[in-house]
Amino acid sequence: MSIEGRITEEFQHRFGGRPAFTVRSPGRVNLLGDHTDYNDGFVLPMAIDRWVWIALQPTTDRRVTVYSLDFGDTAEFALDRLRPVTPGWPEYLKGVAWTLQEAGHTLAGWRGVIAGNIPLGAGLASSAALEMAVARAFAAVSDMPWDPVAMARLGQRAESQWVGVSCGIMDQLISACGREGHALLIDCRSLEMQPIPLPAGVTVVVLDTTTRRDLIDSAYNERRAQCEAAASHFGAPALRDVSLTQLESQFHTLEEPIGLRARHVVSENLRTLKAAEAMRRDDAAAFGKLMNASHTSLRDDFRVSSRALDLLSASARQQTGCYGARMTGAGFGGCAVALVETDMVADFAEKVSSSFRAAINLTPVFHVCQPTRGSELLRL
Ligand code: GLA
Repeated sequence: MSIEGRITEEFQHRFGGRPAFTVRSPGRVNLLGDHTDYNDGFVLPMAIDRWVWIALQPTTDRRVTVYSLDFGDTAEFALDRLRPVTPGWPEYLKGVAWTLQEAGHTLAGWRGVIAGNIPLGAGLASSAALEMAVARAFAAVSDMPWDPVAMARLGQRAESQWVGVSCGIMDQLISACGREGHALLIDCRSLEMQPIPLPAGVTVVVLDTTTRRDLIDSAYNERRAQCEAAASHFGAPALRDVSLTQLESQFHTLEEPIGLRARHVVSENLRTLKAAEAMRRDDAAAFGKLMNASHTSLRDDFRVSSRALDLLSASARQQTGCYGARMTGAGFGGCAVALVETDMVADFAEKVSSSFRAAINLTPVFHVCQPTRGSELLRL
């Protein structure tokens, strides 16, 4: 049964009656531009056909009651008494309710069932998808206009101020604003977004190492602080404003590892702009080379890769029909992404799987992904 079918059935079983709405928000894979968003730089993600779904019905008591099919657990809270408790999925719901109310929205309560098929903690933005699905649910029952960019900003605020991860804007923005058949080139300073079609005859394959790392939040926050230190060394508002020439001529004046971190961000911004150009020209080969260079930079300069990510992307690159491969997202574990000739995908997956297993004794999981549209309200 489809996930939509399962949540509808569970809703009827738990609450009686049919849900009034179903909403869904997608995860994402970032094709190029990692650790650039919080430096006011450029990113090139696409929303993927894996979602968080919610079937729901409004209530009149300003309470939210949600059953999660994936966790087998219920979250319940009153909109007038929001308090953080123990970390876990309900905090994302409360965090979104909190930011929406702080922004002046009058929210109605609802009850619902939630489920998803985005692998958790894999670097595919499952938490941003959850935040955007919850925001969409509140918009549906509260008669609130759906402004995707404003909602993405509020989702990011919920994540940094309620959940405690100082993430950039990329994940929430692409989950809210994704375009079918396209990646989005996003300027993370102006939030201008340009849809870019994928090159013809190629498929985006996400390769999950199945490794997950704890304490990723502290490593992430540390990288962010290093980038800010580098920007202030140049007297610049953000690393976005530092050119490669400027960086190279001053490189020796920066303490390590600050210089290396800055070199990644400055060069990654240039690669992302070039990659968008290559995509516009339908030049998968040029795009793939930029992906490979991005991996090297994330591995050596930004130091957020891992042995599993290095092995998996190296193995992907060696296969016929693979244009390029890199780690994607925050790093340290999780997923790599590869651009593969569509006709070669099955062969590619088989060969990468056996070489990765031989090297590290882990079986990778493959997700063939189509670029999809952002958060949707599906009225039943
Ligand atoms: C996480 C964050 C994003 C971004 C990426 C790295 O996914 O949520 O804002 O910084 O890491 O590119």
